[in-house]
Amino acid sequence: MKYLFVLVALIAPNAVLADGDPARGKRAFLQCVMCHSAVPGGHKSGPSLARIWGRNAATVEGFWNYSEALKQADIVWDAETLDEWLTSPKTMVPGTSMRVPGIKDAEERRDIIAYLKQLAESSSAILENTAPRITLMKPIQRSPQQ
Ligand code: HEC
Repeated sequence: MKYLFVLVALIAPNAVLADGDPARGKRAFLQCVMCHSAVPGGHKSGPSLARIWGRNAATVEGFWNYSEALKQADIVWDAETLDEWLTSPKTMVPGTSMRVPGIKDAEERRDIIAYLKQLAESSSAILENTAPRITLMKPIQRSPQQ
């Protein structure tokens, strides 16, 4: 019973927010790659967006070029705040250094947001999968000496 609650808690938020299409979002992300990377730690003129989901604005490790305006904004990135940001960064945070006009098409914004969410989930999935793989490799490496 306890496990069932955990399972529902893990699945339910995804079901509610799964309205955008991450595959289409990945293609639309091409308009961001001039300034942003989807690789953790890969900063360009803008921070890596690999793990932006659920994070406080202006807190990506290793990116030191945030505007004072974004550093002082009290924002946590989720579906709602990202939608407002992508509609018009400078309306949401006057003085931001992300100088783009914004995306007018609501569906395109939803797709990009779905992609950003998937990115954050898959990059933590990669980290979680690393540990068991390393443990599995040890016996194989030892076997020739036995
Ligand atoms: C011309 C360069 C440029 C383009 C194009 C651009 N950005 Fe940005 N972006 C930036 C900069 C610079 C910042 C940092 C803004 C600040 O500090 O005020 C930023 C910040 C952000 C942040 C907040 C990061 C954080 O750590 O809080 C998000 C989210 C974001 N961009 C998403 C996008 C998406 C999605 C696209 C494509 C639709 C995009 N950006 C296109 C330059 C760009």
